[in-house]
Amino acid sequence: MKKHLVAPSVLAADFTRLPEELEMVNQSEADWFHLDVMDGRFVPNITFGMFIIEAINRLARKPLDVHLMIVEPEKYIESFRAAGADIITVHYEACPHLHRTVHQIREAGAKAGVALNPHTPVQLLEDLIEDIDLVCVMAVNPGFGGQKFIYQTLAKVRQLREMITTTNSGALIEIDGGVGLQNAESLLQAGADVLVAGSSVFKAKDPKATIADLKAFKAVFEY
Ligand code: DX5
Ligand code: ZN
Repeated sequence: MKKHLVAPSVLAADFTRLPEELEMVNQSEADWFHLDVMDGRFVPNITFGMFIIEAINRLARKPLDVHLMIVEPEKYIESFRAAGADIITVHYEACPHLHRTVHQIREAGAKAGVALNPHTPVQLLEDLIEDIDLVCVMAVNPGFGGQKFIYQTLAKVRQLREMITTTNSGALIEIDGGVGLQNAESLLQAGADVLVAGSSVFKAKDPKATIADLKAFKAVFEY
């Protein structure tokens, strides 16, 4: 059985104390930093771009999992890679030539992820699943942290796990949005590999202990 990964979403950190927040993650059991890039076009919010990611990269000692919630992400893949992104995830809904974009990410030297909005069926990835390193299943409508987990996500995770098993794809299943101690176990049982957690980690009394608690769950799912 593979051990699942935990990726705290820096969006929920206190940016007035960013170096301390990043150091907390460095010293915790977390596996990756999850970084949310929003452009005010694909999603109704604007966050940060490669300039900030490059700065974070100088302090972070774990892989950077960069989630691009932007239109025309293909224009910026190489810049995000140069800024330090190890995993670059683009949205299915933002990429008319997804196959090309996924290969562009791999050619840039990063792992390629594809994110699905809550209304996008996992079956749409059937013809591409063998070329993807990670599928990010959105459990909220992208754009903001601290939203309520959409429960239908669990069924999507199960379907995706089945697709990945049947096709022998190496893709990891990442869940993003509304993830915390209350639903981590069900998500792992459904087949999730990576838990992204923003508010549940950074707004917790003890963020480092919360990360350890998220890591401590055991998935009953065997694959
Ligand atoms: C939402 C972002 C998430 C967000 C998660 O658009 O993609 O990564 O930071 O935050 P929480 O865990 O608070 O829902
Ligand atoms: Zn995200």
